[in-house]
Parts: sequence; structure tokens; C-alpha cells
Amino acid sequence: MPAFPATRLRRSRRTPGLRDLVRESRVGPADLIQPLFFHGGKGDVPITTMPGQSRHDMDGLLRQAERAQAAGVRAIALFPRIDDADKSLDGAAAWDPNGLVPRALRRLREATGDLLVIADVALDPYSSLGQDGIVVDGRIDNDRTLAALARQAVCLAQAGAPILGPSDMMDGRVGTLRRALDEAGATDVLIFSYAAKYASCFYGPFRHALDSAPRGGADKATYQMDPANTDEALVEVALDLEEGADWVMVKPGLAYLDIVWRVKERFGRPTFASPVSGEYAMIEAAAAMGALDRRSAILETLTSFKRAGADGILTYWATEAAAWLR
Ligand code: PBG
Repeated sequence: MPAFPATRLRRSRRTPGLRDLVRESRVGPADLIQPLFFHGGKGDVPITTMPGQSRHDMDGLLRQAERAQAAGVRAIALFPRIDDADKSLDGAAAWDPNGLVPRALRRLREATGDLLVIADVALDPYSSLGQDGIVVDGRIDNDRTLAALARQAVCLAQAGAPILGPSDMMDGRVGTLRRALDEAGATDVLIFSYAAKYASCFYGPFRHALDSAPRGGADKATYQMDPANTDEALVEVALDLEEGADWVMVKPGLAYLDIVWRVKERFGRPTFASPVSGEYAMIEAAAAMGALDRRSAILETLTSFKRAGADGILTYWATEAAAWLR
């Protein structure tokens, strides 16, 4: 008489040790990328819509980078808050060799050595309209934007950025960047493409942090993806890989884990995703009102990204979570 039930899955759930042995997805410090906001002024300014995050000054940025590194995080991503006086219609401050990001790249290299620094390639922090592209007659001029992005990318590479993250969603940007970088001799600079980036309300706190909310010019839905589409995401990723992207990213993350899964399944290339600023704010707000246990919510969220197939996670919780996970 065979025992019933023959398969008792609960047997492997009985103790923490058993559960640990059969665990499929794990998150470790090296999976995490810490985004950092900074500005050219003095002082660390808290971002009210993102509790726990600040716009750092240069010294604060260096301190945060060192903290991330000490916690075992391998990479940070830089997001500059550009002074209004330096913003313009064509975003020309984006390719100033003495601009805020090139200065930060040089300081970081001295202070943190082999910590990987990802520099965003997009015009929105520099655009007086908060747009990722150059606006001509009320529309984004894709190809003029490509030329600007190429200048920005070469400037960032020359300032020492080892990894560039184009987040603008113009057509043809990865190929344009790859050619420009190669011609400038920057053949080892990686392209970490925000390949499937959706037109999402979940970027709200990020735009608040950088004062980069779109104000006229164009609707971001004319370049970022429609949240209803999946097949199109696969085309975006295929094109970016053909054009020379080394790694790809899906944004937002929590509401788009199905896309992460399909991208990883289809292409099997280094795939990243991010619980973006609004997803961060949601969990922080729920924890602050006592609705969720904060640490459990963060760890469960990060685990869900790994389970969905992400190789790495760009997350505002990176340093804190890395310290828990060491
Ligand atoms: C801008 C950019 C955005 C994010 C990353 N790069 C915002 C946007 O496209 O409007 C969002 C990141 C986040 O919300 O955490 N190129």
C-alpha cells in the first residue's frame, strides 16, 4: 500500500536549512546596482517623494559610492540634477567635458577605483523641457537627437565611464553610440541599453528628484513604449542587441516582470531590471504606514526579479539590501 500522498512538498519546507538547500533564486550583493542622485551645489538634499534617498553633493556622492562598495555592490548608476541655468533646448551641457557627470566620474575613479560606474545617456536632465530628445516644432527630432547622444556618449567615455546606459528610447541610438564610441577608440566601453522602457507613471519620483518632469515639447509616449505591449519589447531588445548592446534592461520592473521573463527566455543575454522610483516609493509608503514589513517587502521584491530571470537589479535599496545579504 503506497503512502499517500507519495510526494510531500512540505517535507522540504520544514526547516530553514532545508528551504535554503532547495532555494532556486538567490539575491546577493553582486546582483545589485545602486543608483545615486547628485547635484553641483552644497549639501545632501532629501528627496521627499523617495524617503531615504537624497540628491547628494559631490562629497556625499563619494561617500555613498564608498558605502555601496563596502557593502559588496559592484556598480553604481549616476543621475545628475543639473542647475536650471545649465539646461537648454538642445541639452548641450550633456557633452561638456567639465560638466557635473564627467567631474563625478573623475572623482569616483580616484576614490573608488574598480567600482563600476554607469552613466546615463539621455538629454532629459539637461533639457529645459525635460525631454530625452531634441524638440523641433513640437516634436522629438529622432535623428538630431542621435547626433547629440553620440557626443554625450563620447564625452562620458573620455571622462572614464566604463558603462553607458542609453535611456532615451530613440530609434537607432545603440548603433549610433557603438559606432561613435568605436571611432573614438572606446571599444571596451559597454552599452547597457534601456531596451524596453515603457512610458510609465512610475518614473514620477525620479523626475521630481531631478526636476526633469516633461514640460511641453512632446509626450514621452511618442518615444517610450506603450505599457500594453510585449511583442514590441522583444523587437526593441532584438534591435538593440543587433546594434551592439552588451546588456539590456527592462523598466519599470515590478509591473513588468513578464517582460523580463520573456526577454531573458528569448535572448539569453545579460538582462537587468529595476524597481523604479515609483515602485520604490510605493513600498516605502506602505511600510511607513505599517501596512508591510519593510525588510521582507524589499527582499521579496528583489527575489521576484531574480526569479523572473533578471541577472541584476538596479535598485535604490542596493546598498542597504547588500548589507543584509552579505
Ligand atoms: C530618463 C530616465 C528616467 C528613468 C531613468 N532614466 C525617467 C524618464 O524616462 O522619464 C527612470 C528611473 C526611475 O524612475 O527609477 N532618461
